[in-house]
Amino acid sequence: MTQDELKTLVGQAALKYVVPGEIVGVGTGSTVNKFIEALAGMKDRVPGAVSSSNASTERLRAIGIRVFDANEVGELAVYIDGADEIDGRGHMVKGGGAALTREKIVAAQSRRFVCIADDSKRVEVLGRFPLPVEVIPMATQRIVRQFAKMGGTAKVRLKDGQPLVTDNGQHILDVTGLQIREPLAFESDVNQWPGVVTVGVFAHQKAQVCLLATAGGVQTLE
Ligand code: 5RP
Repeated sequence: MTQDELKTLVGQAALKYVVPGEIVGVGTGSTVNKFIEALAGMKDRVPGAVSSSNASTERLRAIGIRVFDANEVGELAVYIDGADEIDGRGHMVKGGGAALTREKIVAAQSRRFVCIADDSKRVEVLGRFPLPVEVIPMATQRIVRQFAKMGGTAKVRLKDGQPLVTDNGQHILDVTGLQIREPLAFESDVNQWPGVVTVGVFAHQKAQVCLLATAGGVQTLE
């Protein structure tokens, strides 16, 4: 199976976690795009969605699903999103699609986080994938130096040769060279640094269920 087929498989598998009659939280990325395609088949049973990015909002609207502002609704039953890395305890690295801040907000607003991924995302220790960190631009170089003290190399993410601007109007640093053995402590620590909007470690907002697509089918880790 190709990686694209694995993403389709796990995107469809996530449908069973959508609660009919309840607004669903929707993440961002190529795996979530497969979920959104699958969701089209049950759109009459879903009153709407809260979306984690402008990109997902556009896709949801295109298939006729109403998108609510997070402030218009209360707690969500479920949030479905992908991951760049996931460890055995459900801790994740996210933000490859630059949507980490809104992803963390919608995850926090949801009772259950269902992570959908292909099995290439599974790791023993977080840190293989460059860690995304959303930052206020004036703090960038100071944060780069903070990561260097931890042995990390942080680079500003570019788009068309310019710093990528997130949906929140901020920049992204991608940090390599880290081994994140204590994700909870790491997330709490980096989140305190002045100028950090969101660090892409999702340990406090971890997945309760992980659906992993493998050549042999979809595995459920709870
Ligand atoms: C976006 C994310 C995505 O969930 C993550 O990058 C995985 O994306 P994909 O499904 O395309 O591999 O965190 O900010």
